[in-house]
Amino acid sequence: MKMTPYFLGSLLFVIANLALAENATVSPNVSEIENLTEEAKKGELLHNAKCVVCHSHLVYIRENRKIHNYDSLKIQVERCTESLGIEWWPDDDEMLAVIAYLNEKYYKFEKPAEE
Ligand code: HEC
Repeated sequence: MKMTPYFLGSLLFVIANLALAENATVSPNVSEIENLTEEAKKGELLHNAKCVVCHSHLVYIRENRKIHNYDSLKIQVERCTESLGIEWWPDDDEMLAVIAYLNEKYYKFEKPAEE
């Protein structure tokens, strides 16, 4: 068979589709559909592993929820972490990831400029 440009084009097309199909089976991840950042995806895993002992996500979407801005979200997560008694964020990165997850998925607050 001759390698015509048309043939090469279809070959690339097939390869691209295979790559897409591969992705689809490797990560049927809800957070990808929701367009979360990498940080928030990491936070989602941490959150689901650690934070659902006392409350589910329903506490973030209840009608009378208490958190109304980014700073109080941060304070609340710190508070909840203390009650967990866990030390899983020596450098705060993991806590910030959990906050990013909650903010991107549920609260959608304007994030204050980096301090
Ligand atoms: C020891 C139990 C406990 C654990 C573990 C816990 N929480 Fe909480 N959290 C609470 C309670 C109780 C409330 C409700 C406080 C209230 O209504 O005043 C709450 C409320 C919250 C709220 C505020 C919801 C609102 O009203 O908008 C956020 C955000 C939150 N928790 C995040 C987290 C995160 C993130 C983690 C994991 C690091 C976590 N919590 C782990 C007990 C816990």
